[in-house]
Amino acid sequence: MNPAIGIAVLLAVLQVSWGQKVTSLTACLVDQSLRLDCRHENSTTVPIQHEFSLTREKKKHVLQSTMGVPEYSYRPRTSLINKHNIKVLYLANFTTKDEGIYTCELRVSGQPQMVSNQNVSVLRDKLIKCEGVSLLPQNTSWLLLLLSLSLLQATDFIPL
Ligand SMILES: *[C@@H]1O[C@H](CO)[C@@H](O)[C@H](O)[C@H]1NC(C)=O
Ligand SMILES: *[C@@H]1O[C@H](CO)[C@@H](O)[C@H](O)[C@H]1NC(C)=O
Ligand SMILES: *[C@@H]1O[C@H](CO)[C@@H](O)[C@H](O)[C@H]1NC(C)=O
Ligand SMILES: *[C@@H]1O[C@H](CO)[C@@H](O)[C@H](O)[C@H]1NC(C)=O
Repeated sequence: MNPAIGIAVLLAVLQVSWGQKVTSLTACLVDQSLRLDCRHENSTTVPIQHEFSLTREKKKHVLQSTMGVPEYSYRPRTSLINKHNIKVLYLANFTTKDEGIYTCELRVSGQPQMVSNQNVSVLRDKLIKCEGVSLLPQNTSWLLLLLSLSLLQATDFIPL
């Protein structure tokens, strides 16, 4: 068989079995909460299991999960927004004690070999504010955007 065709077939097969692939995981800060945006593909109707975890000093802590039991101390601090192709986890009262590698993992029900994950390293001082990566359109941010656009335009037309 032509190797190019072989690769194309392999890719097509992978594409199907990875229909629930995690495409990106990003972190930002809203007030005192850490927000993790886990974007994923959702091309089948098979139920998806998910798990958010934190690996800190080589220990894994489960924050929110439909596969295992989340750690007791994190349970009251987490909340999840579950949409068609994004899962958003909030961790309240985020401090430097919560720094580490955060992982979002997806698994197709009953098929343990179909796992897809993404990691993001989170440091308190490096975290960006969530403005601008807003999930829901906010009137104020639109207003600010329009204002800054018109400012940019205005400065362009001011002769030096
Ligand atoms: C966050 O911290 C404040 C002040 O310490 C406390 O009152 C509040 O209950 C905490 N929130 C959560 C969700 O743990
Ligand atoms: C994937 O999409 C289907 C509808 O197409 C929806 O019923 C299902 O809940 C979605 N899965 C996840 C994990 O969001
Ligand atoms: C994320 O980290 C885990 C544990 O260190 C590792 O097994 C996995 O391959 C990583 N995922 C990616 C997409 O790098
Ligand atoms: C945005 O404006 C609409 C009405 O124009 C209002 O109903 C809505 O609550 C506002 N949303 C926010 C986040 O301010």
